[in-house]
Amino acid sequence: MQNFTTIKTLLADDGIFEITLSRPDKLNALNDTMLQELFCAFSYAKETSSVTGVFISGEGKAFCAGADINRLAKADALDGLAFARQGQHVFRALETLGKPSLAAINGYAFGGGCELAMSASIRTASDKAQFGQPEVKLGVIPGYGGTQRLARLVGKGRAIDLCITGRFIDGKTAYDWGLVTLLTPGEDLLMKSREHLLMATQQAPLAVASCLQVIDEGFNLPLPQALELEALHFATACATKDKTEGTSAFLEKRKAVFKGK
Ligand code: COA
Repeated sequence: MQNFTTIKTLLADDGIFEITLSRPDKLNALNDTMLQELFCAFSYAKETSSVTGVFISGEGKAFCAGADINRLAKADALDGLAFARQGQHVFRALETLGKPSLAAINGYAFGGGCELAMSASIRTASDKAQFGQPEVKLGVIPGYGGTQRLARLVGKGRAIDLCITGRFIDGKTAYDWGLVTLLTPGEDLLMKSREHLLMATQQAPLAVASCLQVIDEGFNLPLPQALELEALHFATACATKDKTEGTSAFLEKRKAVFKGK
C-alpha cells in the first residue's frame, strides 16, 4: 500500500484495519488527498483477506470537521457536482465494504465528518463528541450523503431539523437519537469501541456480510421484496461451512471457529 500523508493506517494482529484521520491542525477536514487516500485504504481493506474490520478515528480534538471549505469556496455548479459525487463514491465504498466498520467519534463530526461516520456500519461516541450538518451556514447542503443517511438513521424530522438549522448535537443526544449506539467517557472511547467492533469481526464473516448487504439493500424496498431478499441470503448462509460449524459448536457446547467459507 502507498504511503499516506493525511491518514495513518495499521493492520493490527486481530485483523482490525485502523484508519486514523490525521490532519489535526485542520481538524481532519476532508481535502482531496484525504478522500483519495481513504478510498485507497477502503479498497485495501476490502481486498485483503486478513482484514476483518475497519476502525476509523480522528487524531486530535476532532473526528472530522467536514469537507474542505477551501475547495468548496472555489466550486461552481460543475465542480460542485464532481465534489459531491467524489465524496459519495468514497463513502459508499466504505458502506459496501462487505466487512464491518466502526467510526469512533472523539470530537467534532461536522458535515462530511458526520457523513463519513454515517457510512460506517457502527458509530460510537465519547461524551466530548459533537455532530452536525452545518452546510446551510455556508450556503450549500450536505453533499456526501448527509441528507439521505441522516434521515434513514434518525428519522426525517430530526434530519430536517439538523440540516436546516445547522445546529450541533452532543454525544448524549446522538446516542438518544440512535445516531451512535455506544457512548463512553472520552478516555475509554478507543478501547471500548475496538471491543465493540471485535464483537462483529468475531462472528461468521459471510453471515455478517449478508446482514450488512440485506439491511443496506432491503431498507429501501417494499417489505415483501425485502423479506424475499432476506430469505435468499438466509438460504445462502445455510449452505456455508460456517453455518455447519456454528450450529455444531453450539450443540457441542464449544466455541465456534469460523473460516469465512
Ligand atoms: N475545511 C477546511 N478547513 C477547516 C475546516 C473545514 N471544513 N474546519 C476547520 N478547518 C480549519 C480552520 O480553517 C483552521 O485552520 P487555520 O488554523 O489555518 O485557520 C483550523 O481548521 C482550526 O479550525 P478553527 O475554526 O480555528 O477551530 P475552532 O475550534 O475554533 O472551531 C469548528 C471548530 C469545527 C467549529 C470550526 O472549525 C468550523 O465551524 N469548521 C467548519 C465546519 C463545517 O462547516 N463543516 C462543513 C463543511 S462543508
